[in-house]
Amino acid sequence: MPLKQLTPSEMTADDIRDWCSVLNDMTAADMPGEPRWRTERLHDYLVCTLPDDLRFVFLYRDDDGDLIGHASLIMFGGDQAGTGVVEMSTRPSARGKGVGRSLLRAVAECAETHGCATLSVEVIATTPAVGFYDRLGFERSVVEQRHLLRWTEIDWEKIEHAAGRLAAGYRLEYHAGSVPDRLLDSYANVKANLRTTTDSYAVVPEWRGSAQADRLRDSLATLDRRGMRSHIVVAIAEPFGNVVGLTELVVSAQRPTRADQYDTVVDPKHRSYGLAMSMKARLLTELRRAEPQLVDVQTWTMEAADDVRWINSELGFVHDVDWYDYETEVGGLLERMRR
Ligand SMILES: CC(C)(COP(=O)(O)OP(=O)(O)OC[C@H]1O[C@@H](n2cnc3c(N)ncnc32)[C@H](O)[C@@H]1OP(=O)(O)O)[C@@H](O)C(=O)NCCC(=O)NCCS
Repeated sequence: MPLKQLTPSEMTADDIRDWCSVLNDMTAADMPGEPRWRTERLHDYLVCTLPDDLRFVFLYRDDDGDLIGHASLIMFGGDQAGTGVVEMSTRPSARGKGVGRSLLRAVAECAETHGCATLSVEVIATTPAVGFYDRLGFERSVVEQRHLLRWTEIDWEKIEHAAGRLAAGYRLEYHAGSVPDRLLDSYANVKANLRTTTDSYAVVPEWRGSAQADRLRDSLATLDRRGMRSHIVVAIAEPFGNVVGLTELVVSAQRPTRADQYDTVVDPKHRSYGLAMSMKARLLTELRRAEPQLVDVQTWTMEAADDVRWINSELGFVHDVDWYDYETEVGGLLERMRR
């Protein structure tokens, strides 16, 4: 049987090495400007999930035992139970032979077995994956603009100035890895605003459900266990010392030259004071010291999020490519694939 379903903890060192090699062949062919993957902590990256989530991996080997395709399915627990996220790659030399189709079918059957009704996948607009998911009947649900900030092009004088320009009555704090307990509740409250705005979009599974203090603590611990270093700047309102704004960024051991900028959100009562700009600029100044190997920072924004796009462009982010979120119902997908 060329296709095997495993839990990530069952993967051997060879599986991990081969997984990384498929990812890098795919990256070289489809998105040559993107950083390559490293095997460092890749096992942790695949094994560690939030306590309620469940991940399976699928390995497709040819007759010689070479890995020519793989997939990962993470099924969410908690209040997002019933939703799964798929990631798939076929080695470019093995494409067009049904490997992707077989992997997706195995993923969909696994999802069905575990009561997961909806699958979603993120696809870079310029890659062949778009044709594949269109062909298999996935629907495009969201279009996000990916913006890149290249380290060598940063105007540090401008960034330092923006980081230091803070409205009266506020201060900024930088935290690496976690948020101190004294801030957790107000941090989670500010994050809850994300559920009612389209300012930003959490693409890392761990960040999605972190709007409660205990979930937030789990999220940060899970990121750490996956080899993903989080860097956070919060805006604090005086005299009460509560968090009124936050910006979060992650650098992964598996791709350490690339930082992923995630949520930036300001409590609605504290908007229009320039806090988002100051926090993001301060985060960049902290990163310069904490992650000197960085080559670029990527972020995603919805087309309609004009305020976030303006801040990003002031900081030097440039839109380079669109990312699509595709979705499908598992039942319908299996029906189409079995026809
Ligand atoms: C997407 C991908 C997995 C497809 O793998 P594959 O092994 O070539 O796919 P298959 O050969 O099984 O193709 C299945 C069907 O999709 C169609 N298809 C595949 N790529 C296509 C494309 N670029 N455009 C149009 N149709 C396409 C095939 O013609 C086939 O149709 P059929 O079975 O009805 O005849 C592969 O191109 C890949 O690894 N891409 C990069 C990974 C990536 O970006 N993943 C997105 C994030 S998860």
